[in-house]
Amino acid sequence: MFDRRSFLGSATAASMASPAAAQALKAVPLPAADLHGRDEDAYWKALRAQFLIPADVVNLNVGTVGSSPRPVLKAIFDGFETTEQMTQAGSEDYPIWGYGSWEAYRKPFADFMGAHVDQMAILRNCTEANSYVANGFDMKAGDEVLMSDEEHGSGEMPWMLRHRRYGVVVKKFAMPKPPKDAAAILNRINDAITPRTKIIFVSHISTATGVVLPAKEIAALARSKGIVSAFDGAHAPGMIKVDLNDIGCDLYTGSMHKWLFATKGTGFLYLRDESVMDRVWNTVATGGYDDPTRKADRYMQIGSSCIPTLMGLNAAIELATSIGMERIEARNRLLADYIHGQMVKRGAESWTSPDPALRGAIATVNTPPVQRMELQEWLWTNHKIRVRGGNPSKLRLATPYFLSKADIDRFLGLFDEFRKMKGA
Ligand SMILES: Cc1ncc(COP(=O)(O)O)c(C=O)c1O
Repeated sequence: MFDRRSFLGSATAASMASPAAAQALKAVPLPAADLHGRDEDAYWKALRAQFLIPADVVNLNVGTVGSSPRPVLKAIFDGFETTEQMTQAGSEDYPIWGYGSWEAYRKPFADFMGAHVDQMAILRNCTEANSYVANGFDMKAGDEVLMSDEEHGSGEMPWMLRHRRYGVVVKKFAMPKPPKDAAAILNRINDAITPRTKIIFVSHISTATGVVLPAKEIAALARSKGIVSAFDGAHAPGMIKVDLNDIGCDLYTGSMHKWLFATKGTGFLYLRDESVMDRVWNTVATGGYDDPTRKADRYMQIGSSCIPTLMGLNAAIELATSIGMERIEARNRLLADYIHGQMVKRGAESWTSPDPALRGAIATVNTPPVQRMELQEWLWTNHKIRVRGGNPSKLRLATPYFLSKADIDRFLGLFDEFRKMKGA
């Protein structure tokens, strides 16, 4: 099996790259491990310098897509340079090759997510992984999938497609807005289960409100009724510490390009064990698609692939691990709580749960009569601040660790100015 070590040639990409690429590859020292204890602000500032995002840009929209920092970019560029030399060690090794089991990339990611390598298929993004679940899960016409009314299009539409082609029934429960505790969500799910419910498919972290659903309890509820549990975890890797085997769900999907800042074009599908794999048909197929001894890797046999993408993934995991997921999660949450509290003080209606256990690093508030699209455009065009939300007045504020309190205060000051300008 070929991995980074099997490529001949040295990592000389920085010296050969274009000026823009050389800038991206410029190594900026990572903070010393003990700096956090000595000077927390300096520690996060040093991490902020790993990102190419200019100093005057504030990105409060990691919820849509993240930005890869220097170590990730360097791994990707080096990967292209070394692989494209066509000097791989083995006579069967090529730079773009989709038939491997990719242990060198799957294992670090599986470890990072609290899973075993045999449970993990690396795919291109969360939309694709959700499509594998909705397309492949063994169901008959009339069988029901139960989801929330807050699923992302990439979670809901694969099921709508299955509904239209094959007659499975999509049932939704309404998420409480906001849910005051885990029981409020669990009761809604429990009440919506019928004898025909075969699978519960919900986001781990809602794209609409940022609410962190009680995944472990939902998985246990599903299991107690003989129903398969599947989570769309697009926002989870890199935002909060995730232990998939501890959650105890059957299926879990996600993206690494958002909060983990890995390469664009990285996603995954987790399948708990062979009994679940037996119930999920493959969607993309080539040799090995039906070989049960391959376990989860049979879901990633897709034909030719982009290996430098996976090298970037490993670098993203290394960076997150060197900081520590507990530390990242605490910082992410602290910033989200700060922006949330400040917005509520300004009279915004909170759609984020009052229960800290149901909150992560996305604060969602409703701010009528402010028109979010108008504010979003104004903030980006005039002030280089990225936010996103939903019409008419919902703001979704995502707070990755590399933001500072000063970045958030700049947003808050401009939010006040905008309201004044509009007489709101
Ligand atoms: C809950 C959820 N699922 C899926 C997706 C799609 O993710 P990807 O771009 O990795 O396909 C998103 C994107 O924002 C999301 O929020």
